[in-house]
Amino acid sequence: MSRGLTRVFGRSLAHRACFATQSTHFPELITGDPYNNVSESIAAKVGVNLHCQPNHPLNIIKSKIVSYFDQLHAQGQPKMQVFDNLSPVTTTENCFDQLLIAKDHVSRKATDTYYLNPTTLLRTHTSCHQVPMLSKGIKNFLVAGDVYRRDEIDASHYPVFHQMEGVRFFPELDATLPYEERVEIVKEHLKATLEGMVESIFGKVEMRWVEAYFPFTEPSLELEIFFEGEWLEVLGCGVTRREIAENANVINEVGWAFGLGLERLSMVLFDIPDIRLFWSQDPRFLTQFQDGVITKFKPYSKYPPCYKDVSFWLSKDFHENNLYEIVRDIAGDMVEKVEIVDAFVHPKTNRESKCFRITYRHHDRNLTNEEVDAIQLVVRESLVANLGIELR
Ligand code: DAH
Repeated sequence: MSRGLTRVFGRSLAHRACFATQSTHFPELITGDPYNNVSESIAAKVGVNLHCQPNHPLNIIKSKIVSYFDQLHAQGQPKMQVFDNLSPVTTTENCFDQLLIAKDHVSRKATDTYYLNPTTLLRTHTSCHQVPMLSKGIKNFLVAGDVYRRDEIDASHYPVFHQMEGVRFFPELDATLPYEERVEIVKEHLKATLEGMVESIFGKVEMRWVEAYFPFTEPSLELEIFFEGEWLEVLGCGVTRREIAENANVINEVGWAFGLGLERLSMVLFDIPDIRLFWSQDPRFLTQFQDGVITKFKPYSKYPPCYKDVSFWLSKDFHENNLYEIVRDIAGDMVEKVEIVDAFVHPKTNRESKCFRITYRHHDRNLTNEEVDAIQLVVRESLVANLGIELR
């Protein structure tokens, strides 16, 4: 699984209407298990389902992709069943093991992923649905959903984003043909299908295929497009590895899969400069978009930023992602960016020091100095209490 590309259980989410403006709050996400690292601010995102909100850019792109596949269906291809309300709570088995993701892959680490307990987590990619769907005999489908990754804080990283996954199998292929030949046919079908999909979203653009590696596909490819002067990665895909189909009891059939990030595409298409805007409730943002149409975002005046630095001696197990999490949990969408502005090792004691600069800015309102000072104080205290660092 690439970490850069696209970047619930109990009560049945699958049967609930997809659209909810408010988080439905899942107390079961905060389990008290020693391994549980889902924060309140993350739990509050579960169930919001921006990709189902009418007139929201993420929903507009999702619907464009669905329409493209519906059109192919009208031309005689099998129907792609659409799932956009599957629970984001999944297992290490579905998310990693069944997809042949190595036991020591970074994406499994608690510093990178939100766990409820050692075997239950918030999905890190929509690929986690591949084997469960195939096991149910669903072989042609699209999944859209929110995915969760602990990450840095800046204009293009947010710990929740949205992906779309597509899977198609070809039971009609002559099973007496050598496996490699069938893989070749499926690969060509995949390329033609995705080129058509990208054209239906971006119009006529220059495209190129780049060889890639994903544990779950062989061959694996990435599609890039030349858009507004630069090459841009738009999706990852490939021919599903035989072992994965076999994990789902699909024997001797070949199929393809792809995955893409909806924010990434939307930011480019709608000219949205900051990933946090997708979560904005500001009518100046929300009223700009309309189902079925791609329009360029018209920036409205930004409120001024406020910078605060915090310097400290690192503790033994210090990991930046834990700091980002604490800042996010306290400051929520008031934090725009966190960056390291200084780092050094004391020549005598060998202790390591870092200075982080936090940029506070809210998209929807002005922040007062007093308000930011108060937040910064809580952040500092919380860093000491939770990370064992020593402020300087
Ligand atoms: N799951 C991958 C990611 O999150 C994206 C992806 C790549 C999905 C290739 C696929 C695929 O289905 O075949 O980076």
